[in-house]
Amino acid sequence: MGREFLIGAGLSVVAVTVRLIRLSVVGVTLGLMSESTATDSDGVAWAPVDWDAQAAVFDDEPDHGLRDPQVRAAWAERLRDWLPGRSSDILDLGCGTGSLSLLAAEQGHRVTGVDLSPAMVERARAKLAGRDAVFLVGDATDPPVGEQRFDAVLVRHVLWALPGPARALRHWQGLLRPEGRLVLVEGVWGTVTPIGIPPERLTMLLRPLASHLHLEHLSGDARLWGGEVADERYAVVASI
Ligand SMILES: C[S@@+](CC[C@H](N)C(=O)[O-])C[C@H]1O[C@@H](n2cnc3c(N)ncnc32)[C@H](O)[C@@H]1O
Repeated sequence: MGREFLIGAGLSVVAVTVRLIRLSVVGVTLGLMSESTATDSDGVAWAPVDWDAQAAVFDDEPDHGLRDPQVRAAWAERLRDWLPGRSSDILDLGCGTGSLSLLAAEQGHRVTGVDLSPAMVERARAKLAGRDAVFLVGDATDPPVGEQRFDAVLVRHVLWALPGPARALRHWQGLLRPEGRLVLVEGVWGTVTPIGIPPERLTMLLRPLASHLHLEHLSGDARLWGGEVADERYAVVASI
């Protein structure tokens, strides 16, 4: 059974395998995805995932649910460095079950979370009940936030799954207030068929949009992942 994907200027390939696999790499599971990854118009590998189906088990991974106090503290430390020092408006795109949204809210920020998956949004709303946070079902590439603008757009492990990362980054830049920042946490996972965005590519896409880029390699900090990891994980803070 074949599926057709467009690559670059209309060149098409047939990705033949549709068998679902569970992509588990040390310490993180990104979800159920097709073995048929493809390359989009930005040259980035991507694969479709049923995020609604993943929602119930998503928080079982240490870096997703942040249930282990050490893992939680490690992410809280990083977020404190990456987000503005004062109380700010944060847009968490592809917020999933809201684990990072909760850390941001605990640090005094007002959070708007957006996710395409209603099941993820339902869990995020429950996780942040009573907090200064709202969660919307919507597409991260064009989030339904109207005229509202933000001090930081936070996106963890989402850009890799979007079909047009360059376009998304340009749109997110437009959602920022002056001197706002993009906080992007990404990686390249797996060894047989690696998926994700290499840091060189992401920084290249960000360079025309940002006045300053800060790249932080995260693979060496086992506390973030609940164990050692061998693949590439990183964050980029892009100041506009
Ligand atoms: C790997 S999870 C990351 C969740 C969260 N950012 C975190 O770090 O815990 C990817 C999330 O992105 C969401 N997602 C994927 N494509 C999306 C899109 N086009 N718009 C909004 N959300 C999307 C999925 O539903 C899922 O919740």
